[in-house]
Amino acid sequence: DMRMRVLGIETSCDETGVAVYDTDIGGPAGLRAHAVYSQIALHAEYGGVVPELASRDHVRKLLPLIRQTLAEAGLGVGDIDAVAYTAGPGLVGALLVGAAVGRALAWALEVPAIGVHHMEGHLLAPLLADDPPAPPFVALLVSGGHTQLVQVDGIGRYRLLGETLDDAAGEAFDKTAKLMGLPYPGGPQLAALAAHGVPGRFRFARPMTDRPGLDFSFSGLKTQVLLAWRDSDQSEQTRADLARGFEDAVVETLAIKCARALEQVGGKTLVVAGGVGANQRLRAALTALCQARGGRACFPPPALCTDNGAMIAFAGALRLAAGQCEEPAITVWPRWDM
Ligand code: KG4
Ligand code: ZN
Repeated sequence: DMRMRVLGIETSCDETGVAVYDTDIGGPAGLRAHAVYSQIALHAEYGGVVPELASRDHVRKLLPLIRQTLAEAGLGVGDIDAVAYTAGPGLVGALLVGAAVGRALAWALEVPAIGVHHMEGHLLAPLLADDPPAPPFVALLVSGGHTQLVQVDGIGRYRLLGETLDDAAGEAFDKTAKLMGLPYPGGPQLAALAAHGVPGRFRFARPMTDRPGLDFSFSGLKTQVLLAWRDSDQSEQTRADLARGFEDAVVETLAIKCARALEQVGGKTLVVAGGVGANQRLRAALTALCQARGGRACFPPPALCTDNGAMIAFAGALRLAAGQCEEPAITVWPRWDM
């Protein structure tokens, strides 16, 4: 078996992420170092990610972050055996920064490089655990851009069971937070507010749970919250109560569909990944659901739920170990089916 220290680079949206994964060590300890530089402050005044600003900031931050990560890992650039970078889906200008730097570095070092699917990175992040789940399992991918249920039969063997027809779960969190006046990115703030909310004061629909199937639709929820917010006294407590009602609706909807997916494939293991996987109430609900079914729910640590370089280094290492790498052309895929 060939030892590989894989440099992972993530630049698909508004976080610059870099990591080194060492296949010789393996497991969670194989993650020799990882660092994320978040552009949140840069985009906050615009209320959302500005693609051109994102690309420029990745250009500024990526090389210093690579240098910092290598130093933390106690490695020189010559110790890198392969480079993995996010090749899509994402913002094309942002993707090109990671792809160009990753490819050029690999070419200069004469090591293989591989373009990784961002959602495969999220999907495999929960395997960076001491007691990793083994396929087959069902994965719930919940991020700002995606909401999908995927049957995972092995590395690279994925079958889409269902997905959102409109807004992603994280997008719904962010938009709902924004319409109640919370600053970008609202998801985590809405969740924090919900912790002080009175459960049951507002009850919203559990979209598409009243019919069979594993697809989602979250865009109607924000409108329900908007109407309730407009008609309310708009006090701090009301905002928290609305946040609680919204969060409960999203969490319960996701839980119902996860139970249905496990039922459908006869599975007991649920793997949850993506930014919304950091949500504490979702984690509790899915853990309880799996326990009740005699199975288990696996989550990455919260820092590996949101965008990071570790998941890209890890997914790249698994793909390279399976013998995959690519010709040194720079191609990114702003839209890309896994
Ligand atoms: O995976 P991610 O970092 O980026 C994408 O690939 O989209 O996910 C970011 C999304 C955002 O929509 C953010 O609001 C949401 O994840 N998010 C949360 C929480 N933490 C992050 N949503 C609800 N509760 C949280 N604690
Ligand atoms: Zn992501």
